[in-house]
Amino acid sequence: MTDELLQTACTAREQAHAPYSKFKVGAAVRGESGKIFGGCNIENAAYPEGICAETAAIAAMVLAGDSKIIELLVVGVSDQPVTPCGGCRQRIREFAGPYTPIHIASPDGVEQTLTLGELLPQSFGPENLS
Ligand code: THU
Repeated sequence: MTDELLQTACTAREQAHAPYSKFKVGAAVRGESGKIFGGCNIENAAYPEGICAETAAIAAMVLAGDSKIIELLVVGVSDQPVTPCGGCRQRIREFAGPYTPIHIASPDGVEQTLTLGELLPQSFGPENLS
């Protein structure tokens, strides 16, 4: 069920620190423990130092001891679907596989579900280093 992911991501989104873009994003990941971790975007006056909501959610997951993403949801308000940026796709890849579902949502609900393999085909991951 994506309800709990959406709820967590929307609550996280409300905490976004986005004074520059005014574009608030929330994310939620379900780790292998079954627990859900939220994150919001955190912008910075030194613009490139800001982080995305997905990255913040992954940090919370890793801190709690999980090392696999079972599914991830990102929520934003836009005419276009708010899909993870390129850098976040690669950060998700570190803890997920090609079939991991990535849910793209508005606060009203999930708009589409893609796999990580669709978002980041032919990716480079930890296995490439072994
Ligand atoms: N942003 C995210 O947090 N996640 C995404 O998937 C897309 C973009 C943030 C970064 C920046 O703070 C703001 O949205 C505008 O790009």
